[in-house]
Amino acid sequence: MSEEKDPLLMSHEADGIKELDNNLPRWWVWLFNLCIAFSIVYVLYYHVLNMGMSSAEAYDAAMKIANEQKAAAIAKFETDMATMEPSTDQAVLSAGQKTFVTYCSPCHGMEGQGLVGSNLTDDYWIHGSEFKDTLKTISEGVPAKGMLTWKDQMRPSEIYAVGSYIFTLRGTNPPNPKAPENEITTPAIDAGMFE
Ligand code: HEC
Repeated sequence: MSEEKDPLLMSHEADGIKELDNNLPRWWVWLFNLCIAFSIVYVLYYHVLNMGMSSAEAYDAAMKIANEQKAAAIAKFETDMATMEPSTDQAVLSAGQKTFVTYCSPCHGMEGQGLVGSNLTDDYWIHGSEFKDTLKTISEGVPAKGMLTWKDQMRPSEIYAVGSYIFTLRGTNPPNPKAPENEITTPAIDAGMFE
């Protein structure tokens, strides 16, 4: 008995598996067309007419704005330094202490007694004893002598915090102090003044 052949049945067959030549669903065809239309618009917009920014350009633009903001913040900080007073706020000081232990103690010692870097607890200062001198030295560094330029890596608020913290180390007389590297530049500080 011969079966009537399904007009949708395609001629090929593999291991008894046959295929019907159905129309594609309408929703699928429309999605496909839409994708093609979108890709044409996309190529025109981004690559032919160059109207949109590529990811790399968007990154550069964002970095440019961020660098300007950073430069402005540093410029403001450099002006403000002249009149800043060391913070006595515990939160600021403990943030400063964390920074000191992480970044400064390898060269200045855990107690600021000095190692490769100078003693920060005595009355002998190479770059000035006032708080503004401390901030400036931390911010600018002394690259020729191995003191890093921290404004490249730290926010002004972090420099202010660590500067305030090391200010509290003055006059603490830790053991094994590094020998003075300059004439006395500040009047002796009463060790008790920060207690
Ligand atoms: C890689 C080593 C190194 C690190 C890290 C370092 N310093 Fe220094 N620092 C030095 C040296 C060396 C000097 C002395 C520079 C000179 O002889 O002119 C110095 C000088 C200073 C001075 C000036 C001292 C003076 O007598 O005038 C201050 C303040 C200071 N450092 C603070 C810091 C702080 C705060 C940090 C951490 C954020 C830090 N330093 C991290 C090596 C370092």
